[in-house]
Amino acid sequence: FRVSVILVAAGSGTRMGGVPKQFLHLGSMTVVEHSIHTFAQIPSVAEIIVVTKEEEISRMKSLLDEYNEVIPIKVTAGGSTRQESVARGVEACGQEITHVAIHDAARPLVRRKDVEHVFADALEYRAATLGIVSKDTIKVVHHGIIDETPQRSTLYLTQTPQVFEIVLYRRAMKFAALHEFDFTDDCQLVEAIGVPVHMTPGDYRNMKLTTPEDIAVAQALLEEEER
Ligand code: C5P
Repeated sequence: FRVSVILVAAGSGTRMGGVPKQFLHLGSMTVVEHSIHTFAQIPSVAEIIVVTKEEEISRMKSLLDEYNEVIPIKVTAGGSTRQESVARGVEACGQEITHVAIHDAARPLVRRKDVEHVFADALEYRAATLGIVSKDTIKVVHHGIIDETPQRSTLYLTQTPQVFEIVLYRRAMKFAALHEFDFTDDCQLVEAIGVPVHMTPGDYRNMKLTTPEDIAVAQALLEEEER
């Protein structure tokens, strides 16, 4: 079981007001470093591939240089969609890797124990993701009118890491490219080829930094943890 972690950090941060959130400081380090710290502690992680914007490659490389002593880190350029960025990461995976773990750099608070749970599930079921049951009732809305209210207990908010056998994920990528799918998460690619993806219950703290108020929440969660 040798995992390549693909840390996607090539988004434009539009909903954050155009700020590249991976370089924001959160507590004692930048957002991207938090994930590096967590994944580097896990023995099955063989390498970390950071996917960033072309123009930020050298900044990212110098920020992460010191971590190379602990874990091999590659930095590669992303694409215009998340799916493209993930594909670039998969291309950079080393040989002898058995699984890929795709993680949003925008989720710096993921805990080691939750990563270990989803890794164990991916080893057992071939494909697994972290997620949490929705606290709110979710409506399907079309043209401003509620169409449907799925039963809340069946609704999960997906998080990352999303972990797959690399052979399986490569097959799913080919299928998605053929059909020109544009998905918002990586499980969908695997779902599309009919392979079951296991849902591993995670933690509400593994939030995604998307809009400015998320930063304040993440800072508060981090301070609480440090106490
Ligand atoms: O846009 P969204 O919130 O879904 O982005 C989730 C993650 O995907 C972020 O960490 C972001 O940097 C990354 N991303 C990327 N390449 C893109 C778009 C998003 O690496 N083209």
